[in-house]
Amino acid sequence: MNDFLRKKPVSLILEQSLESEEKGGLKRSLTGLNLLLLGVGGIIGAGIFVLTGQASAQYAGPAIVLSFILSGIACTFAAFCYAELAAMLPVSGSAYTYAYATLGEFIAWIIGWDLILEYLFGSATVAVGWSGYVKSFLKDIGINIPDYLSSSPYVFSHDTGWTQTGALINLPAVLIVLVSTYILVKGIRESATANNIVVFLKCSVLLLFICAGASYVNIENWTPFIPENTGTFGQYGWSGIVRGAGVIFFAYIGFDSLSTLAQEAKNPQKDMAFGILGALVVCTIFYIAVSLVLTGVVSYTLLNVPDPIAVAVNAAGDGLMWLRPFIKAGAIAGLSSVVLVLLMSQPRIFYSMSRDGLLPPIFSKLHSKYQTPHISTMLCGGLAAIIAGFLPIGILGELVSIGTLFAFVIVCTGVLVLRYTHPDINRPFLTPYPKFVCTAGALMALLQMAFLPLDTWIRLFIWLLLGMIIYFTYSIKNSHLTKQTSKK
Ligand code: ALA
Repeated sequence: MNDFLRKKPVSLILEQSLESEEKGGLKRSLTGLNLLLLGVGGIIGAGIFVLTGQASAQYAGPAIVLSFILSGIACTFAAFCYAELAAMLPVSGSAYTYAYATLGEFIAWIIGWDLILEYLFGSATVAVGWSGYVKSFLKDIGINIPDYLSSSPYVFSHDTGWTQTGALINLPAVLIVLVSTYILVKGIRESATANNIVVFLKCSVLLLFICAGASYVNIENWTPFIPENTGTFGQYGWSGIVRGAGVIFFAYIGFDSLSTLAQEAKNPQKDMAFGILGALVVCTIFYIAVSLVLTGVVSYTLLNVPDPIAVAVNAAGDGLMWLRPFIKAGAIAGLSSVVLVLLMSQPRIFYSMSRDGLLPPIFSKLHSKYQTPHISTMLCGGLAAIIAGFLPIGILGELVSIGTLFAFVIVCTGVLVLRYTHPDINRPFLTPYPKFVCTAGALMALLQMAFLPLDTWIRLFIWLLLGMIIYFTYSIKNSHLTKQTSKK
């Protein structure tokens, strides 16, 4: 009767993961360093290259640095929880599998379905940002891509709703998704290599900006560091710092995607925690340093632009002009690895759901030579390309954030539940002070969800409703746990 409440035994999850390895499932080829770099590749992107300026100009001023610290702390709580579960259950299903073991099949399905918002919609969102940077870079060198081929045919505003723009398609956004899909089908090692090159590029550019920009910092730009609140909640002052943290949360999304690679890690027990926490630490340090230099070089009031780092470089005058082309190239590189890593995660969640019978078997089919979930990857890539080609960036970004935060709530709760239900299981990595860290992680994610606009919530509910229809018409009947129960 209560089929949807059934849980997948932890022992079965571990058994199946070993069995799949022996039968030539996903290839274990990623080292700890690969994981760390994939984490950095998936994290540093549109958040720092685009959103920092807007959040600083509109909400926090120079105190955007404090917003980064606040959001970084909230993410660290969630990262500890992901690290514990990914090391303990090294399978590709991530939050979906953790929920299956702790909260039951229905919640697991819901979270698997919800993760589409983070990974599939996330890659599409960043692809749209990538398209903007490429267009502007090409314009600088005299090549113009017409608007009707490089923007969404629709825009959405909270006041006027949906309107047509007259554009046909965002072609560069479609192209980057398709190229990423191709690399992902070719193999996990190839994808990691492509990511390493791109990460090297984007981190070098950010380092150049920090080191060269530091000598152009004018202390007056930091005064006052926390601009006085205007009287409206969220416009500067302490409430502005909190709102700023909610906006730049997007910049941290991606560390969790590493947990979907646990089944492809050579030594997940040791390396998952290293990759997840290491990537988060590296990115947080970058974010704090970049936002300090950014708001020190130029007044925050001038940063409400899509390319804030380029604006700071211009403001520094002739001395930093040489850095200009590198900034755009770094942003283009940075955003492309985020598209790649987020798009890598989605088929791996589907892989686990399909192995459990909740999705059709085609989603767990592996390529005979490359050992990648190629059909699922192509399906996800095709869908992400359509979304990137036709939907505007604003509406996508908020959906990505709410979807990710929802997964954080489940993962933080899952760690605590498993500590009570399975106290003796081997945990290669332990979340410190679990009662505090897990509760704080879940509450901070819930709080950030609460601050998102009502229409984002409505979209989330519609999305989950669609998921429920699929669950009750297909998945509940085909679940392998059903078959195992009925055989007994
Ligand atoms: N953290 C990723 C970015 O900022 C999603 O682009």
